[in-house]
Amino acid sequence: MHSFQTVSDIHIAPGGAARLSRYVDGLCPNKRIALITDKGVRALGLIDGGVESLRSAGYDVLIFDNVVADPPEQIVLMGAQAVRDYKAELVIGFGGGSPMDTAKVIAHLAGCDQPIETLYGVGNAKGPTLPLLLIPTTSGTGSEVTNVAIITTGKTAKKGIVANALYANRVLLDAELTFGLPASITAATGIDAMVHAIEAYTSIREKNPISDALALTALRKLRGAIVTACNEPSNIEARTDMLIGAMLAGQAFSNAPCAAVHALAYPLGGFFHVPHGLSNALVLTEVMKYNQPKADHWYGEIASDLRVGETGASLIDEMLRIKEETKVPQTLSQVNIPQDAIPMMAADAMTKDRLLMNNAREMTYDATVKIYETIL
Ligand SMILES: NC(=O)c1ccc[n+]([C@@H]2O[C@H](COP(=O)([O-])OP(=O)(O)OC[C@H]3O[C@@H](n4cnc5c(N)ncnc54)[C@H](O)[C@@H]3O)[C@@H](O)[C@H]2O)c1
Ligand SMILES: [Fe+2]
Repeated sequence: MHSFQTVSDIHIAPGGAARLSRYVDGLCPNKRIALITDKGVRALGLIDGGVESLRSAGYDVLIFDNVVADPPEQIVLMGAQAVRDYKAELVIGFGGGSPMDTAKVIAHLAGCDQPIETLYGVGNAKGPTLPLLLIPTTSGTGSEVTNVAIITTGKTAKKGIVANALYANRVLLDAELTFGLPASITAATGIDAMVHAIEAYTSIREKNPISDALALTALRKLRGAIVTACNEPSNIEARTDMLIGAMLAGQAFSNAPCAAVHALAYPLGGFFHVPHGLSNALVLTEVMKYNQPKADHWYGEIASDLRVGETGASLIDEMLRIKEETKVPQTLSQVNIPQDAIPMMAADAMTKDRLLMNNAREMTYDATVKIYETIL
């Protein structure tokens, strides 16, 4: 038996963000909107056309641009208070995974009285929420279509809120917003999306035929476009394929959850602020090699679908080629992680039960240490 949920209203519209008032139709009765973003996205002017379109259509817009990468709980709480004070009836998350995750939790907190500390874990966030529109500006996390938000609590711990109440009401995919993404972020976030698809396809507990189909299509699009998107930033076809691929991979893993690659990647972000996509890229191929005894047949199916070979090893080789061609860092030392941090990171990775329980092969502390040492 399988069940599958996703966002029911998705618009693929290059240039659509500049006509934003069309995409909020029916979502905001009192015409007061809170737009959640970060200072980087704002400084690039990405929200300007959209805000102007909303204001000329008679909407009042609060811009909350205090989100930072790996959003801390305090900033989420601050945003929720600002949204309540403004009496907004629609929350728009505009940016990469960090602003979108923040917007998801803000929409929840501003829509009901649940204290934030009761939300962490699976199925704990229960409605009602404010209506939510998500507009990604990176092609990676798929957060726009997932029921997940990742928040940093305390100094280093990244915790997940996983609940169907977090699904957005509407999503707008405008590939033109991603033209300005530097090659390094395009590569790392694109590899994150590929990891979502690979982990969804090999997720042992909730693997399902709908996620499988989405994961394979996602990987075809992402593999076909990632190098071009890095080398030709304004190539609309490649950028559109990246955005659609990341979204499809998001739908896949939202229903067939991620596993050990993400579990081993999180401490790199939590302790050393290595960007999420890059953390995944760093551990990906060694975790795949570890998983091969249990997941080789699935890796082989993906490789055949991508026409890069018939075996699990050929998929691993292909991911190594992509990492090389997109020039992502290959070692922990290149991102300034010292050897003596390995035990602490491995212990932290072992706490990610939510992810490890989906892994094709049981992951152990010793195996985790070995994987980190191999990529040191
Ligand atoms: N909710 C989920 O399902 C899910 C899944 C995976 C990861 N995540 C989380 O998402 C976060 C990572 O998101 P991300 O990788 O999208 O990065 P991000 O949102 O943290 O953004 C990274 C940087 O890219 C900049 N940026 C964003 N769009 C840009 C553009 N178009 N042009 C130039 N610069 C741009 C931002 O200003 C920021 O400086 C992490 O917190 C991670 O844990 C969530
Ligand atoms: Fe991810």
